[in-house]
Amino acid sequence: MARRWLLLCAQLLLGVALARSARPLPLVLNTWPFRNATETAWKMLMCGGSALDAVETGCAVCEREQCDGTVGFGGSPDEFGETTLDAMIMDGTTMNVGAVGDLRRIKNAIGVARKVLEHTTHTLLAGESATKFAESMGFVNEDLSTDTSRALHADWLARNCQPNYWRNVIPDASKYCGPYKPPSILKQDGSAYGETGAHYGHDTIGMIAIHKTGHTAAGTSTNGIKFKIHGRIGDSPIPGAGAYADDTAGAAAATGDGDILMRFLPSYQAVEYMRGGESPTTACQKVISRIQKYFPKFFGAVICANVTGSYATGAACNKLPEFTQFRFMVYNSLMEQPVEEKVDCI
Ligand SMILES: *[C@@H]1O[C@H](CO)[C@@H](O)[C@H](O)[C@H]1NC(C)=O
Ligand SMILES: *[C@@H]1O[C@H](CO)[C@@H](O)[C@H](O)[C@H]1NC(C)=O
Repeated sequence: MARRWLLLCAQLLLGVALARSARPLPLVLNTWPFRNATETAWKMLMCGGSALDAVETGCAVCEREQCDGTVGFGGSPDEFGETTLDAMIMDGTTMNVGAVGDLRRIKNAIGVARKVLEHTTHTLLAGESATKFAESMGFVNEDLSTDTSRALHADWLARNCQPNYWRNVIPDASKYCGPYKPPSILKQDGSAYGETGAHYGHDTIGMIAIHKTGHTAAGTSTNGIKFKIHGRIGDSPIPGAGAYADDTAGAAAATGDGDILMRFLPSYQAVEYMRGGESPTTACQKVISRIQKYFPKFFGAVICANVTGSYATGAACNKLPEFTQFRFMVYNSLMEQPVEEKVDCI
């Protein structure tokens, strides 16, 4: 329904392009160059949709397109082979949030998050109970596995379940599959997270939309990380971690090593830096630097926008030698189409 409406409205957009003002609002900003998601969010704003509508429909495009295999169904099987989804949406005008974590067998996770926001006074629902909620809201319960996700999981089992996210357990998780148990005398393990870990594809769509009236919204959607422990929830559905929006200061969203990111509430912190007078560039960079002090090899990026439409990104990519720049997508009223931009990793 929403898609057909968008197509009809698209014809109006040529006229709108001529009427663009010098103010760089509205604005759509998202992690990674997911062009169709950016474009759809933009059209939603142009067609009279709210910032929340833009974030929801934009992230939903990635859920359907399985962006990079890291959003939506059929990606990032967990250690049991199941794909589970995390998503959040936040209204920066009312400070209302809806989120789902470890959502099972429902494809449109951000749609369910929107229902949590609209139809409950709760913020975050998780696991099978979130699935039941989604069904009651009219979402279809369906298998999220695909041939691709089944093959990924079979291959991982054949590699003795390497890599995985366990430590200090028996049998030795760096050599064998589980089930694992804690050893009776816990051996001290000095290795910090990320010292041995490779990049397993910790990607997410994080999106910010600012309506021309200055109303902000932010959201995320992801299937987490490959071979995660069953039940793991990342930063994406945690308000202030995966995303944050506040009309009185700005909005931010994050992507990367969620288990690290969520300990620092990077999106909240970036918005607070902007409230304190920092530019989006400095706000994003300061957030990344704070995390790097503890986890020098972590991988993560934060996108930041203030309420007058200035935007920036900060990224740390030390874990990935081949990766020196982080790419993101932006669309504002000064642009004719979504523009892919890059930022050097800190
Ligand atoms: C983006 O949308 C176009 C038009 O619907 C489609 O052909 C293309 O495959 C989409 N891109 C991705 C990455 O899915
Ligand atoms: C947004 O950031 C830009 C660039 O630093 C700055 O010029 C502008 O004043 C900021 N807007 C607000 C509302 O702080």
